[in-house]
Amino acid sequence: MNTDAIGVFDSGLGGLTAVREMLEILPHENIIYFGDTGRVPYGSKSRDTISRYALQDARFLKSRGVKFIVAACGTVSSVAPDLSDELSLPYTGVVHPTCYTAMERTVTGRIGVIGTTATISSHSYKNRIELKQPSFKVYEQDCPLFVPLVENGMTDTDDEIVSKIVERYLHGLREKDVDTIILGCTHYPLLSDAIRAYMGDDVALIDSGKETALYTAKLLQEYGLLSDSSAPASAEFYVSDTPADFEKYAGIFLRRNINNSVSRINIEEY
Ligand code: DGL
Repeated sequence: MNTDAIGVFDSGLGGLTAVREMLEILPHENIIYFGDTGRVPYGSKSRDTISRYALQDARFLKSRGVKFIVAACGTVSSVAPDLSDELSLPYTGVVHPTCYTAMERTVTGRIGVIGTTATISSHSYKNRIELKQPSFKVYEQDCPLFVPLVENGMTDTDDEIVSKIVERYLHGLREKDVDTIILGCTHYPLLSDAIRAYMGDDVALIDSGKETALYTAKLLQEYGLLSDSSAPASAEFYVSDTPADFEKYAGIFLRRNINNSVSRINIEEY
């Protein structure tokens, strides 16, 4: 049981920000990743559609025998219902651990949240933080062009298009003088360098993928689900469209060759 894999899903490349951290901190955990590349982006879709996609993604992972499911997706975590009962499997999303770290990190209590349009419209991060710390000020901004940039490998700070889009979305948060920004979509940490170049080094960037990986490690420990194997772990990747671009960009981001471990599935069957 304990050597069963952790299942991680997102609409595309974004959830790899959680996987990269897991490979570091949980080297003996097998990972099965699903990126719904055929239906990305999720963040511009309705609550019903996102919930249906999330359930299919999680069912696919369950069919592979995983022991724990991570919705490494700010959008799913914000708008889809908790899937743990439906799946009878332990499950986490990204909102809770990310808010927790942002609240620890801020000094001024002025926090920016950036995410997809669905996430920002749900106010999931803002509501959670203001419930716990009513004196904090949370400013929100959706950044709908960030996911297509990342999915197309356009993350270079020196790219004029990237820096212009970053400026367009973030100038309001800079004026609000936030000292912490939640990267509330797991795709956005891939744009960290460009965001930091615009916001300055004094603003803390909270990576929702990384925070969720750390929280997953904590939950596995608490639930007694950590792997008891000392063998090197495996990582398998599944996508819902052609693997070529995913293989290329995921390989660069994870700094490993994953060319023979990406398979295409028909997610509509789940
Ligand atoms: N990476 C996901 C998120 O965290 C999904 C982005 C999208 O597909 O729009 O919100």
